[in-house]
Amino acid sequence: MSIIKIEDLTFSYNEDTEVLKNVNLEINKGEWVSILGHNGSGKSTLSKLIIGLLKASSGKITVDGELLNYDTVHSIRRKIGIVFQNPDNQFVGVTVEDDIAFGMENLGIERNEMISKIQEFSKKVNMIDYLNKAPHELSGGQKQRVAIAGILAMGTDIIIFDEATSMLDPKGRDSVLSFIKELKNQGITIITITHEMKEALYSDRIVILKEGKVIADGTAVDVLQDKKTLNSSNLELLLPLKLIYHMQEQNIENKEIEEILWQLSLIK
Ligand SMILES: Nc1ncnc2c1ncn2[C@@H]1O[C@H](COP(=O)(O)OP(=O)(O)OP(=O)(O)O)[C@@H](O)[C@H]1O
Ligand SMILES: [Mg+2]
Repeated sequence: MSIIKIEDLTFSYNEDTEVLKNVNLEINKGEWVSILGHNGSGKSTLSKLIIGLLKASSGKITVDGELLNYDTVHSIRRKIGIVFQNPDNQFVGVTVEDDIAFGMENLGIERNEMISKIQEFSKKVNMIDYLNKAPHELSGGQKQRVAIAGILAMGTDIIIFDEATSMLDPKGRDSVLSFIKELKNQGITIITITHEMKEALYSDRIVILKEGKVIADGTAVDVLQDKKTLNSSNLELLLPLKLIYHMQEQNIENKEIEEILWQLSLIK
């Protein structure tokens, strides 16, 4: 059953350019979908439309059976947590603790539960020692960790991570990927926006946007086999995949090597 349904969605910030063009996308409950695409392809815009921060020029968005409009936007926002691409856009509180609490306050979570969740999730992202710090005293990666803690603590059914690990070190990235896997096991629907093909391999489905259009939508295997689309998407391809393409272009036939490279391309 689809939990997010996007039909013929078109959007422009100003009259001259359409940033999203007739986007159709259905995301099933409990699914983990990665959205990839070059800079400016419309990924963040799409996520802002899904949570009703921007209004579509035309088309429909349905979340959990509710058609997104002026009357339903508040109810829909309670179902979706979003970690924004730029963590500075996420901060509202005076301290890290206030920030983690903010989303939960909006959901009306009871105070004692809130206090225990702040402890639980700040520990999870390794920021428990920073609870009394002001957000501007943190590094970029630390801000991202705090933003992630605040969203996880809300416990929404759908979470969008918009390049939420871009400033994290490799260990931080691995730990966020493992939270996402845990969330997926709990039945949470996840959208990760990323430039990292390797991260996208963990998800159930990969969607590629190019200049505001969906140019690919399928499993990792489907998408990686679609050489023409991948080459046109301006994404950085993994080395084994580049080698497969190179062999094909040069008419080098070696099924065994090709098979090994395929396996390597799909290793997470
Ligand atoms: N507030 C805005 N006003 C006008 N144009 C905007 C605004 N925000 C984004 N755009 C334009 O919309 C297009 C899509 O931007 P968007 O941020 O959705 O891209 P993206 O795929 O998230 O890119 P990135 O990988 O760099 O994060 C870009 O051409 C951008 O210049
Ligand atoms: Mg973006």
